[in-house]
Amino acid sequence: MVRDVHCIIGASGQLGTELALGLKRAGEQLVLMDIKQPVYPELLDLPFEMIDVCERGGLADRLGAHRVTHVYHLAAALSARGEQDPQWAWNLNMKGLLNVLDIAHAMPGIRQVFWPSSIAVFGPGSGPIAAQSGHRLPATVYGISKNVGEHWCAWYHQNRNVDVRSVRYPGLVGSLAPPGGGTTDYAVEVFDHIGEGLPYRCFLEAGEVLPMMHMGDAVEAALGLMAAPRSALRCAEAYNIQAMSFSPEELFLEIRRHAPDFAFECIPDFRQDIAAGWPDGLEDSMARADWGWAPKVDLPALVASMMEARLSRLPLNA
Ligand code: SER
Repeated sequence: MVRDVHCIIGASGQLGTELALGLKRAGEQLVLMDIKQPVYPELLDLPFEMIDVCERGGLADRLGAHRVTHVYHLAAALSARGEQDPQWAWNLNMKGLLNVLDIAHAMPGIRQVFWPSSIAVFGPGSGPIAAQSGHRLPATVYGISKNVGEHWCAWYHQNRNVDVRSVRYPGLVGSLAPPGGGTTDYAVEVFDHIGEGLPYRCFLEAGEVLPMMHMGDAVEAALGLMAAPRSALRCAEAYNIQAMSFSPEELFLEIRRHAPDFAFECIPDFRQDIAAGWPDGLEDSMARADWGWAPKVDLPALVASMMEARLSRLPLNA
């Protein structure tokens, strides 16, 4: 039996860093790829390839050289950054995904691909709680790329026999690496502003409820979906997964239970318009039934974990 070799593309990013750690701690053989070196100390002894996912030849060469069996393709432009540079975001998000799917088809050694979709596939008309097959009318370049990407995943599965799996992630909150240009980033960056003596200035409205998830559950979602038998998976596109929903105000009041002097003000910018188009939560019964999705972390536990992590690390943007 050939040993599994897991490869994370976008391994130095917010989710990539934590997924790499999860796979390493599980004893899996791992190769990291990114256009930036990893910085988290526990990942520095792993094989690393400086690779741009848009460069098909180099990517195929390195995936083959490492005899990769499982690809986690996480490299993407997020919602807020994507609106600033639509052509760049579209190119990165679409070309990167099509390269990975095409290489997975051409290389039989690649047995499974994980590619995250997002709550951003939903938009006006999907309702406050988006159904698995809810109306999708994405209003950002990022959301359009995730929506179309879901269709490409289903096409490669049906027509090219690529075993690609996906979930619709909400805003992800973790302590090891900063997010890069998302609308939900406030829920991570706020933790670097506690204790500064100035109010944290939030770019969303105080009452804007969004679906959110602790990074521990996000990693479990990727690993749980990849471990499921393909025959159990009814969804050919991306599974809705829900953990918790909160507004900035609810998060900040929870932070105040740990840091009573913490103050905030909300001065919405263009990101509020993006957030306003997204649902408050997702209906995720299919993920729970098909592969046992069951999040563990709620809002109080999320804040407790982030407050504890603050004490033992450098600021996220150092
Ligand atoms: N966290 C993402 C963003 O804000 C949503 O999937 O862009």
